[in-house]
Amino acid sequence: MPKKLFVIGVGPGDPDYITQIAKEKILISKYIIGYRYTLRTIENLIDKEKQQIYEITMKNQESAYQYVYSNMQDNEYCTVPFTGDVSFSESEVVDRLLEIFGNENVEIIPGISSIQVASSKSRVPLDKAFVVTFHVTGDIRQKQIELIKSVLDRKSVILLPRPWPNDLSKNFMPSDIALFLKNNGVNTREIDVWIFEYLTDKEKETIFRGKMIDLENKTFSDLSVMVIDQNKKETYLNFNLL
Ligand SMILES: C[S@@+](CC[C@H](N)C(=O)[O-])C[C@H]1O[C@@H](n2cnc3c(N)ncnc32)[C@H](O)[C@@H]1O
Repeated sequence: MPKKLFVIGVGPGDPDYITQIAKEKILISKYIIGYRYTLRTIENLIDKEKQQIYEITMKNQESAYQYVYSNMQDNEYCTVPFTGDVSFSESEVVDRLLEIFGNENVEIIPGISSIQVASSKSRVPLDKAFVVTFHVTGDIRQKQIELIKSVLDRKSVILLPRPWPNDLSKNFMPSDIALFLKNNGVNTREIDVWIFEYLTDKEKETIFRGKMIDLENKTFSDLSVMVIDQNKKETYLNFNLL
């Protein structure tokens, strides 16, 4: 069998959110390549004596992927763990892994996204919200237009802000979002918001709940999910089907 890569979502941080199938794939992998935060999430599953572990950053990830790919033998497995779910806000890296390892040699194992946990805690269903990530390198103008439209259409929004520590002009954090919406005609005094920081971390998790205008000049961690809550509860009793 040819060498194989598992691209695995390991949940928002608490190891209790790692699925059984993710654990099994991690245990059979000879190579594990990941960022510090995700490696910490799976540290109890890793055997440093038997597995080769590569802690990467944005700067050196390309060379680590290339190095492992060229050193792997047939029948060997590699895991690249991602926070949350692989299929949300990770495509810039996942698409590159598909190129390096070859689409047919990659298996994607889904995980529980920070977006799902924020949806559960705020009671804003994913299917009734505009779900969007600003945590991308590329242009976010189109997403910003959709954000304004959703809020003005009285839709809920679940979003990942954009931290950009080296260039604050590219930041799109909760305080920037509050000002942006105010400057684009939204009455931010009336809009209910939640900010969830460090979700699932038993010691650090915090929940802010208030009006959008309260976010101006407030600082939140890079590890935050924002929910703009315009949800209207609607049960099967509303539909009078009997
Ligand atoms: C590159 S995106 C990855 C999203 C991830 N794939 C997911 O499904 O949650 C990184 C961003 O996800 C959000 N995030 C991930 N884990 C989080 C957590 N435990 N608490 C709050 N936000 C989190 C933060 O906005 C963070 O900056």
